[in-house]
Amino acid sequence: MHLLHVVGARPNFMKVAPVIRAFRSHSGVRQTLVHTGQHYDPNLSDIFFEQLEIPRPDVSLEVGSGSHARQTAEIMLRFEEVVLEHGPDWVMVYGDINSTVAAALVAAKLGIKVAHVEAGLRSFDRTMPEELNRLVTDQLSDLLLTSSPEAEGNLAREGVPSEKIRYVGNVMIDTVRHLVEQARMPDIPGLDGDYALLTMHRPSNVDVPATLREILAALRDISRKLPIVFPIHPRTKARIDALESGGVRQLASTSRVIVTDPVGYVESLALQKHARFVITDSGGLQEETTALGVPCLTIRENTERPITATEGTNTLVGTDMELLRAEVDKILAGKGKAGRVPDKWDGHAAERIVDVMTTIGG
Ligand code: UD1
Repeated sequence: MHLLHVVGARPNFMKVAPVIRAFRSHSGVRQTLVHTGQHYDPNLSDIFFEQLEIPRPDVSLEVGSGSHARQTAEIMLRFEEVVLEHGPDWVMVYGDINSTVAAALVAAKLGIKVAHVEAGLRSFDRTMPEELNRLVTDQLSDLLLTSSPEAEGNLAREGVPSEKIRYVGNVMIDTVRHLVEQARMPDIPGLDGDYALLTMHRPSNVDVPATLREILAALRDISRKLPIVFPIHPRTKARIDALESGGVRQLASTSRVIVTDPVGYVESLALQKHARFVITDSGGLQEETTALGVPCLTIRENTERPITATEGTNTLVGTDMELLRAEVDKILAGKGKAGRVPDKWDGHAAERIVDVMTTIGG
């Protein structure tokens, strides 16, 4: 059986790593890895390959950045040639990024079976580019490998037959479990003692100047209570620099928001594990904080990962900054959510994927 995995951006890398590792012990399985190059900066890409021990990609498409249409189209053009050349039995796609939907569409049109890892998540918010990617990818997939119990109901409502769906659990948490012992604090000058961790990059938060301004004002206030470590995504840095005179540098010098470059995976795990709480708009951090038992405040009106709020440590605050401030005070008063880890977020999801796929076969 020949599997061709497609990854493109940071949140894919922690999902593919355990799957490739789990299939390696099967002599009857051949694996090819394609990196689309949607993320290309070393600290958004290469460092994850090293730390997660992902093999060097067999094919790099080097598509780079662009508008959604341009980036998706460029991936499709280049990926079609790769599929024709390699002729895999399955194309495996991960998560909800542009590379995911582009590869699924190419494979499906060439009559190659598609397996979607992390299928069935829905925010029900079609202004979010990832939601469109999820909807289309799931319609095109032959095998829907789900990470959360509500996914099956979401897929059933969209007419996906239950025979195509397997609840295997969360491969992201396989990676958390695999590397949590190696979590390593990055060297952050000026940081000793308690802190909060912040990550933020969603267009809905950073591309709208009025929203971004309000969020930054709240973060300045919160940083008076405890320092906020902020590894900054390139999109966010560009938006803050365009918004305020002095930009990110000014923010860092006039508040206790400690801005750093994006960090690697083991550094991100350590920063989450030791934080009093996390403020984020990332899907991955909502799940990782639930696995680590750290309170998480999510600056989004909705989430495609509701189990992190119903069972885990996550609280959605939307863009209501009064609510954010109130939730921070609650946590600092020792009343943060304790949560519990959902079923099948146990470090063995990739093994279940191997079982499912080797049973179905090529
Ligand atoms: C993408 C994913 C998002 C994921 C996020 C994680 C889609 C639609 N979005 O969003 O789901 O949560 O990755 O980071 O696929 N840039 C760099 N260096 C890079 C890559 C990008 O500087 O290596 C800059 C470029 O200016 C680019 C911008 O960041 O225009 C945004 O990158 P892009 O890949 O389009 O989207 P993300 O916001 O990273």
